[in-house]
Amino acid sequence: MTGSFHRLSEKDRPTVAFFIDGRAATGLEGDTLLVAILNQADVLRHSEFGDGPRAGFCLMGACQDCWVRLEDGTSTRACTTPVDAGMRVLTKASGSQWLTNGS
Ligand code: FES
Repeated sequence: MTGSFHRLSEKDRPTVAFFIDGRAATGLEGDTLLVAILNQADVLRHSEFGDGPRAGFCLMGACQDCWVRLEDGTSTRACTTPVDAGMRVLTKASGSQWLTNGS
């Protein structure tokens, strides 16, 4: 996987293993999910409205462009969620379930 983000510093933080669309991925402790994903992938997610790949916009919790789905059915805002070991992130819409929050 190539990434849209390129880490320039703080490369010595402990590694956190997680999954992007079922593939093993790694972030660094303290990364947001958005940073961890975009260090490994070209896009954060695919739009549920069919208007193309998304990468977040504001990176500070305001625009809502970075919601990603987790395999457990919940959704999370990637720019404000720390990456956690074992997280299983889905970047593609799965029918009409993309917009639900899992509750
Ligand atoms: S990138 Fe704007 S809310 Fe996450």
